[in-house]
Amino acid sequence: MPDASTTSNDKGEQKDFGIGIPVETKGFFLKGSAHLGWGMQNRLSRIFNPESGRAVMLAFDHGYIMGPTTGLERIDLAIPPLAGYADCLMCSRGALQSCVPPELNKPVVMRASTGATVLKELSNEVIGVTVEDAVRLNASAVTAQAYVGAEGERASLANLAYLINEGNRYGMPTLGVTAVGKEMVRDSRYLGLACRVIAELGVHFVKTYYCDPGFDEVVAGCPVPIVIAGGKKIPEIDALTMAYKAIDQGASGVDMGRNIFCADDPVAMIQAVRAVVHKNEKPEKALELYNTLKCERSKACACAASK
Ligand code: R5P
Repeated sequence: MPDASTTSNDKGEQKDFGIGIPVETKGFFLKGSAHLGWGMQNRLSRIFNPESGRAVMLAFDHGYIMGPTTGLERIDLAIPPLAGYADCLMCSRGALQSCVPPELNKPVVMRASTGATVLKELSNEVIGVTVEDAVRLNASAVTAQAYVGAEGERASLANLAYLINEGNRYGMPTLGVTAVGKEMVRDSRYLGLACRVIAELGVHFVKTYYCDPGFDEVVAGCPVPIVIAGGKKIPEIDALTMAYKAIDQGASGVDMGRNIFCADDPVAMIQAVRAVVHKNEKPEKALELYNTLKCERSKACACAASK
């Protein structure tokens, strides 16, 4: 029986409507995302930690253009030990369904573009994954590259527009990646332009490269959150310093691949990156953490081997 009285329940107890307590109308923690729908905001809250407002994304989509990249020869071995320390995974559909255990239960940003490899012109991409399939695979966002100023500029912007339009139908955010064509310079003028162009198109967050000087202006000119790509493998202290500077200048996180999975100790490195991103740890302190964890882990391995 539905309880018919508006003032008491079926046991005769007074109902509590919290009269006098106003309904809280909260904003949303992510830059430029306050007016998005519930599904979008919920998915973005899986990628970005609502407490810090930041994300450590683990990128391992490199194979989609490069084949078996160093460090990712066996995704099934390389990624599961790191996944627990990542806020989110970024990968291709094929890698996800063949190598990532569903039980890891991590949010996924799915690479949806294809059509080019390192053997030919990279900017010549199309969309290869429907948003419907990304929903089926429980992705939290979809992504494609924008080749602003390159041969495939028009096609790559059309790819992003397609993802944004389709994604909007399902509450699926789109990450826009600013790929830098061969003739482009990774300076704040170019990156600022590329980030702004794709943000105006409607991407919900942007991945770009760190640049010095002027990264703070790239961030300020982009109305949605920016995460930085790690780029080629560099010494651990340099990668941590780059992450620190980017966060300090307003980045909302990193989407890092090679500087994690190609590190001497990837599990220690991702924890050091995490300390920088979520706790503003200084690079030297984060390197100390890296070295301590690395040392502890190698002792544990030696100990296990001697048993
Ligand atoms: C490139 O193939 C992908 O978009 C990567 O996800 C991106 O470059 C980030 O990885 P990394 O930190 O290795 O540059």
